[in-house]
Amino acid sequence: MSTPRSRAFSGIQPTADSLHLGNFLGALVNWVSFQDRFECVYSVVDLHSLTVGPDPAAIRDRTRRTAAQMLAAGIDPARSILFVQSHVPQHAELTWLLNCVTGFGEASRMTQFKDKSSKQGAEGTTVGLFDYPILMAADILLYDAAIVPVGEDQRQHLELSRDLAARLNARYGEGTAIVPEPYIVPATAKIQDLQDPAAKMSKSGRPGGILELMDPPKVLAKRIKAAVTDGETEIRYDPAAKPGVSNLLTIYSALSGRPVEQIVEEYRGKMCGHLKADLADVVVEAFTPVREKTEGYLADPAQLDAILADGAARASQIATRVHARIADRFGLLPRGETGRRGADG
Ligand code: TYM
Repeated sequence: MSTPRSRAFSGIQPTADSLHLGNFLGALVNWVSFQDRFECVYSVVDLHSLTVGPDPAAIRDRTRRTAAQMLAAGIDPARSILFVQSHVPQHAELTWLLNCVTGFGEASRMTQFKDKSSKQGAEGTTVGLFDYPILMAADILLYDAAIVPVGEDQRQHLELSRDLAARLNARYGEGTAIVPEPYIVPATAKIQDLQDPAAKMSKSGRPGGILELMDPPKVLAKRIKAAVTDGETEIRYDPAAKPGVSNLLTIYSALSGRPVEQIVEEYRGKMCGHLKADLADVVVEAFTPVREKTEGYLADPAQLDAILADGAARASQIATRVHARIADRFGLLPRGETGRRGADG
């Protein structure tokens, strides 16, 4: 008899019309390959995106767009659970329980919160933004996830999730929660901005600094051509001295599956322009099928919604059970259906 596979969980925010290369290489590519090894649960985390106060029409549209891009990139709803976070109410419910075991100081030390709140000021910063990492911990613990594939920017949030899981076990007994392991691939965990290679590629970065999955080939080629490349012409991999060229080499290697050294060898004595032109072809070749499939999914919103409804139903089965277990350990009375089942033994 085969043993049940460990469960993996990860999520992505519907905060833009298109995912970018950082999301693709840092997260999605690993999520797709995880499907062969784990029982995978992937979520479009719409509740998280409310912390930046998006327009309601935009969030509705982007939630579908994000799900469509995940499917197009290879998330297979027959093998994995793909769902929208707000469709499973236990995410918010477990957040409350975790809020009550998280220190105010501990949550205040989250660097993403500190960065964002210092830009927005106390009045512009919502309690939701402060609570963001705890909602993220609830996402993970709710599925008893053993492993969480993410990019480098999520490392500190994962640490908090681990601390909270361990705290639940210490306070309420072993087996209350699974302590999740982060899965962060060093080579692709931090794709840099094309215009500012000292910063990570992000939707709030410099104009022209990101490559978006839904960009047409011309735009992709133009942005790669305009990427900042460290003064001297030599092509070598040296992230400290040559962050721009090194970032391009990282992207080239990850998308082509060829080692960086081999690519450096091939471009020895050539100009950066050569590398950029070829890289544009590699990016276009990787993105075009994803863009086209995404357009296919978006052309049939009813089918997309059916996939998400099925995912939510499957996610709910796990979430209901795990939430009831944790709530019981906290001392909350079981609710109706679950309680009767418990009493029946
Ligand atoms: P989000 O939506 O910002 O990003 C989704 C995933 O993309 C990764 N990523 C990158 N990887 C490499 N290089 C980059 N430049 C880059 N930019 C983004 C992120 O690390 C992430 O894995 N808080 C999460 C969403 C979330 C979540 C969760 C993740 C909510 N609940 C539970 C895991 C488990 C976030 O904002 O991701």
